[in-house]
Amino acid sequence: MASVPEIFQTMAYGPAPEGVGPVNEWLERHGRRFGLFIGGAWTEGGSDGFETLNPATGKPLARLTQATVAEVDRAVRAARKAQPAWWALGGHGRARHLYAIARQVQKHSRFFAVLESLDNGKPIRESRDIDVPLVARHFYHHAGWAQLMEQALPDRVPVGVIGQIIPWNFPLLMLAWKIAPALAMGNTVVLKPAEFTSLTALRFAGLCQEIGLPPGVVNIVTGDGRAGEALVAHPDVDKIAFTGSTEVGRIIRAATAGSGKRLSLELGGKSPFIVFSDSDLDSVVEGVVDAIWFNQGQVCCAGSRILVQEGVSDRLVAKLKQRMEALRVGDPLDKAVDMGAIIAPVQLEKIQDLVRRGEEEGAKLWQPSWSCPREGWFFPPTLLTEVSPAATVAQVEIFGPVVVLMTFRTPGEAVELANNTRYGLAASLWTENINLALDVAPQLKAGTVWINCTNVFDAASGFGGYRESGFGREGGREGLREYVVWAGQRGSGAAGLAVRRKGGKAVGGKVRKAAKGVAIHALPPIDRTPKLYIGGKQVRPDAGYSLPVLDATGKQIGEVGQGNRKDIRNAVEAAHKAAPGWARATAHNRAQVLYYLAENLAARAEEFSHRLTGFQDAASAEREVALTIERIYTYAAWADKYDGLVHHTPYRNVTLAMPEPIGVLGVVAPDDWPLLGFVSTVLPPFAMGTTGAINIVTGLPDELARALASHDDVDGVWYFGSAEISAEVERLSAGNMKRTWVDLGRSRDWADPCRAAGEEFLEQAIQVKNIWIPYGE
Ligand code: NAI
Repeated sequence: MASVPEIFQTMAYGPAPEGVGPVNEWLERHGRRFGLFIGGAWTEGGSDGFETLNPATGKPLARLTQATVAEVDRAVRAARKAQPAWWALGGHGRARHLYAIARQVQKHSRFFAVLESLDNGKPIRESRDIDVPLVARHFYHHAGWAQLMEQALPDRVPVGVIGQIIPWNFPLLMLAWKIAPALAMGNTVVLKPAEFTSLTALRFAGLCQEIGLPPGVVNIVTGDGRAGEALVAHPDVDKIAFTGSTEVGRIIRAATAGSGKRLSLELGGKSPFIVFSDSDLDSVVEGVVDAIWFNQGQVCCAGSRILVQEGVSDRLVAKLKQRMEALRVGDPLDKAVDMGAIIAPVQLEKIQDLVRRGEEEGAKLWQPSWSCPREGWFFPPTLLTEVSPAATVAQVEIFGPVVVLMTFRTPGEAVELANNTRYGLAASLWTENINLALDVAPQLKAGTVWINCTNVFDAASGFGGYRESGFGREGGREGLREYVVWAGQRGSGAAGLAVRRKGGKAVGGKVRKAAKGVAIHALPPIDRTPKLYIGGKQVRPDAGYSLPVLDATGKQIGEVGQGNRKDIRNAVEAAHKAAPGWARATAHNRAQVLYYLAENLAARAEEFSHRLTGFQDAASAEREVALTIERIYTYAAWADKYDGLVHHTPYRNVTLAMPEPIGVLGVVAPDDWPLLGFVSTVLPPFAMGTTGAINIVTGLPDELARALASHDDVDGVWYFGSAEISAEVERLSAGNMKRTWVDLGRSRDWADPCRAAGEEFLEQAIQVKNIWIPYGE
C-alpha cells in the first residue's frame, strides 16, 4: 500500500487552466460572428466588421460589427419605444426582471468568467472571484432599488433613454454598473462596449432574451469610438454615462454641451497609496499587490503612487521586491496566475513608452528576475523609485502594472503630495492609528478613500471622481440620482420649469417720506454705487466701468460695477483662501450663520422691499423679501440635516458616504428674482460648506459666466440663464472637467419651494466621498 507522501507524489492532477469548452461551443454556435442586439433581436452584422482578439495569444476570437450611425439610430429608437412601458411596469415589475438577470448571471457565472478572461486577458481568479460576483451583486442590489423606488424616491421619474459607453478593463462589471441602476429607475439603454472587449456584453444580450426582458429595454451596439460618437450625438438620447479616458470624456463633455443631455463621467486617475510609518507593512505589501497588480494595473482607481513615510521606505521597498519576485504572470486561464495579459499592443506600447520616459527623467526601475511569456502581450510588475513629484510617471495615468514610489515626512506633506494631481478618483491610506486615518481621509481630494484596504467595490457604495476624474457616482443611493429627474422636469418640455413669473410690473417712482417730512428725492442723492464684494471687502471693479441698472420701465435706477475676468480671478482666489476654514465649520455653525442672516434681513426687510420696488410693485417686493427670509430658513434647516449615509457593504467594513463641498463654486444668479433668485442659488452651496466667503461680482452675466466656466481653479459652475450660454458654460467647463448645472434657458419659478429649493439644490452642491472603514469581525 502506498504511503501518503507516495500518493501525493504519484497523484495525477487535472488540467490547471479553466476549461474553454463551453465558451468555444457558444462562439462556434454563432459562427464566431456577431451582429448588434437591437429591439430584442440580432442584426445580421455588417461587412464593416472587426476582430476581437485574445490578448494572451494575439489570436482572433470572433468577428464583430462596427455599428453605423443608422444602426445606432435604430437602437435609440428601440429604446425610446420601449421606455414608457418599462417605466409603467412599476417598481416591482422591474425588480422581478433585474432579479432574474442576477440569477441568470450567477447560473452562468463560470461561463462569463472564462469568456471575460479570454477576451480581456485578466486572470480567471479575478474574473471568477471578483468581477462576476460583483456583477450579480449589482443586479440584486438594484432589483431592490427598483422595488423601493416609489417609496424611496417618490418625486423622481426616469431620465428616459440612456446612452452608455464603457471601457475594456472591466467589461461585464462596467456594463452592470451602468445597466442595473438605469433599468431600476425605469430608463432604457443603448450600451456600447469597448471595441476590444464586447463578448461578455453580447452574451449578456442573449441572457436578456432568455429571461424575457421586454425588447428594446437593453440594446447593445458594438464598434469603436465612431459608434460611441454617434450615440453621444444622437438627439433623442437623454443622458450619456461614460467610463474611459479623460481625453474622450472631455470630447463628450464638449459634444453634449447645451444639448440638454445629462452626463456622468468616470475618467482616469493617479490614485495615491499612502503608507504611514506605524502601518503593518506585511498587510501594506498585499495591499500594493491589490492596488496596482490587480487587472495588470489597468484600473482607473489603481493605487499607482505609493507615498511612504521616510522611516519605513527602505523596509517597504525590500519587502515589495521580495513579493514581486514571487508574483506569477501568464496564461489568464491558469488559476494560479496573479497577472494576465495587457489588453492590446497599443496599450503595451503606451506602458513601455512611459516607463522609458520615467527612467529618462531619473527614476530607478526594478522588475523581477523572471521573464514574461513571449506569446501575447505581457508586461511584468514594475516598481519605479527615486521619482520626483513633477515627473511624468508621477503625474500621468500609465494604466499598466507600474507603480511609482515617493517618500514624505509628515502627514501634512503626505496630503499635499497625494492631492498633487489633476485627478481625484480614489486614495488608500495605511496606518494603525485611527485618529490619523480619520484626520487624513477628509483632506484627500478623492471620491473614494480606503483605509487599510484598497480596490474594494460594492453596489451599496457610490464610486466616482473629483476634479479631472469626472463627476457623477455609480452605485449606492447616490448613484441612483444619475438616472432620475425630479417629476415635472422630464424632457425638453420641462413642464415644471416653464411656470413663468406672473406680474412683476413696475410701478416705480413711489417715494417714501423721510422722518422730518422732506421727500428724499427733493435733494440730490448722495451717490451710492455698490462695489464688488471680494474677500470680505468692497472693491472697485478692475476695469473701472459701471453698468446701469434699469427698472421694469427701462428707467435707470442705479449703477453697479462692471466686473471682468480679472475680478473673477480675484474672487476665485479669495474663495480659495476662505474655503478650507468654512469646510471645517460644523453643520451646526453653518446653520447658525444662516439663521443670523435671516434675522438681519428681517430687521432690514423694509429697506430691501424698497430697493426691489422699481422692478415690481410694492406688494410683490414685500412678498419677495418674505419668501427670501423663508428660503434662508430652509437652508439653515437643511445645513445640519443633509447627512451622509453608512453603506452596509458586505465585507468587514462599513462605508461612510460623506457629502463633501464641491470646492469653489461659481454661481450666475438668475435675473428675474433679484433677491430671492440670488439667495436661492448662493445659499445651498453655502449651507453645504462650499466656500465660506461669498464673493459678489456684478457685471454682464454672460461674460462672467464664460470667465467662471473657463477658470481652472473653479470646481463647479451654476448658470441660470440663456440656452446659448448654458451650452457655452458646459463646453468651456471641459478644461478642468468642472461640474456644471445649467437651466438651458428654461425659466424657473423661484417662488415655488418645490422647484427652487431643497434637495435638488443640495445634491448639486456636494459630491459624495465613500470612506471604507474596517468594522467588526
Ligand atoms: P477610451 O476612452 O478611448 O475608450 C473608452 C470607450 O469610449 C470605448 O468604448 C471607446 O470605443 C469609446 N470612445 C472612444 N472615442 C470616443 C468618442 N469620440 N466618442 C464616444 N465614445 C468614444 O479609452 P482607450 O482608448 O480604450 O484607452 C486609452 C487610455 O484611457 C488608457 O490607456 C487609460 O489610460 C485610459 N482608460 C481609462 C479607463 C478608466 O476606467 N478610467 C478605462 C479605459 C481606459
